[in-house]
Amino acid sequence: MTFLKHALITVLLAALVALAAGAWIIIGGRFDVAVSAQLPEPVHEAIHQTRVNAVRRKARDIPARPADLDDPAALLEAVAGFDAMCADCHHAPGGAPSALARGLNPKPADLTEAAGKRSLEELFWVTKYGIRMSGMPGWGKTHDDAELWALATLITRFPQLSADAYEQLRSEASEAGVTHHHHDQEIDHEDDHEDNHEDNREHHH
Ligand code: HEC
Repeated sequence: MTFLKHALITVLLAALVALAAGAWIIIGGRFDVAVSAQLPEPVHEAIHQTRVNAVRRKARDIPARPADLDDPAALLEAVAGFDAMCADCHHAPGGAPSALARGLNPKPADLTEAAGKRSLEELFWVTKYGIRMSGMPGWGKTHDDAELWALATLITRFPQLSADAYEQLRSEASEAGVTHHHHDQEIDHEDDHEDNHEDNREHHH
């Protein structure tokens, strides 16, 4: 009986200490929320592995990939879409991380590298659902699956695309008049860019 009593008191004391420590951190704001703050390496690695494994697990349940993934018109649309939606954070083949990308923690993945490690289904899943608490948006709310499969397929081609070959695809897309639209709002990003540059004030990093 005395053993049980001692055990109970020890557990209660430990719970109180944990509660006090939690309050000290939460109420006192003693947690570095700056992007420059780094988690200890084992914690960072554990979170990264959890993310990789969670995506792999979820990607098992998505419906079969469409049959016509090699459609050249879809490829050009994917290039226009990548430019409008992804390139600010993930540079295209041969590119370098933007100022926006360098300001994020965790860093946006190098998609040429990711293409070598992830399946098409995993790339599709992340593109559709995003990764919370990371800055990676889920694009499934505003885009249909066909477009997202085309984007994921484009990423699988990155390791084979040189910077020149990618540029070539971009100019083919713009010559063919392929632009990117969000179905719900009909925002044309190309127009946005033109508007922004009308006054000729340029912003440099
Ligand atoms: C605002 C910045 C941002 C934008 C825009 C963005 N991403 Fe991401 N993306 C991220 C970040 C940050 C990560 C890394 C998350 C992590 O490490 O947990 C990521 C991760 C990914 C991954 C996972 C890579 C891997 O290693 O498994 C894929 C695939 C991806 N993004 C595709 C896209 C596509 C396709 C688009 C455009 C439709 C896009 N992203 C737009 C920030 C962004």
